[in-house]
Amino acid sequence: MSSRLILLGPPGAGKGTQAQRLTEQRGLPQLSTGDMLRAAVKAGTEIGREAEAIMKRGDLVPDSVVVSIIGERIDQPDAKNGFVLDGFPRNPAQAAALDEMLQQRGLSLDHVIEMKVDDSALIERITGRFTCAKCGTGYHDRFKPTKVPGVCDSCGSTEFVRRPDDKAETVKSRLDVYHAQTAPLLPYYRAKGILHEVDGMAEMDEVTRQIGNVLDGRG
Ligand code: AP5
Ligand code: MG
Ligand code: ZN
Repeated sequence: MSSRLILLGPPGAGKGTQAQRLTEQRGLPQLSTGDMLRAAVKAGTEIGREAEAIMKRGDLVPDSVVVSIIGERIDQPDAKNGFVLDGFPRNPAQAAALDEMLQQRGLSLDHVIEMKVDDSALIERITGRFTCAKCGTGYHDRFKPTKVPGVCDSCGSTEFVRRPDDKAETVKSRLDVYHAQTAPLLPYYRAKGILHEVDGMAEMDEVTRQIGNVLDGRG
């Protein structure tokens, strides 16, 4: 069964964590604008050079940039039977662009999943986060450590990275941007009848179970 869904939630809500699981368990590719922008920064492309300072401040990069990135990505063969949008759309203009993009291709969105987490929990989640430098698997100092200290569970690499925008002061700006620009998408998708809420404060496996229920029509 094909599924096109959006994981919508504040920074640190667990969008990336759950998107990775949907890829593993259901073969749905994760379309993360944040990951794609970080890859562009690392590669030193024109987009990367434009995005770097904006991301460090915790602001949104221009809509035209992320809309064109997503437009190219959904045309890739692996996205044919569905995908998980992680971190896109992030404001009403991006949501409108997505609607248009899908309509042009004769596609529609199946579900928008709101991951609800208290602001107070987000800072700890984000400042404890780290990622394997080689394969990108995500971890957390306290909530999801590697099984063997200093060794990636998935690929055995011993190199890890932390994001430059994961400092407490930048997290505050990212949270303000979420409430001002992204949260207004909730009533937009509720009105379309495709919004579902999951408890992002629950343990990771429980969040996965709740998302699975939505995808399987039990949510
Ligand atoms: P982006 O990369 O999208 O970051 P974000 O939205 O701030 O979200 P995060 O990646 O920080 O959190 P997450 O929800 O993925 O949480 P995770 O699963 O890692 O965007 C970064 C920047 O790029 C933006 O600020 C902007 O500048 C730019 N950008 C991106 N998209 C854009 C767009 N569309 N338009 C304009 N600009 C854009 O989990 C966090 C931690 O908590 C992890 O360590 C994890 O292990 C742990 N954790 C997860 N779930 C649980 C749980 N249930 N219990 C306990 N711990 C948990
Ligand atoms: Mg993420
Ligand atoms: Zn790894």
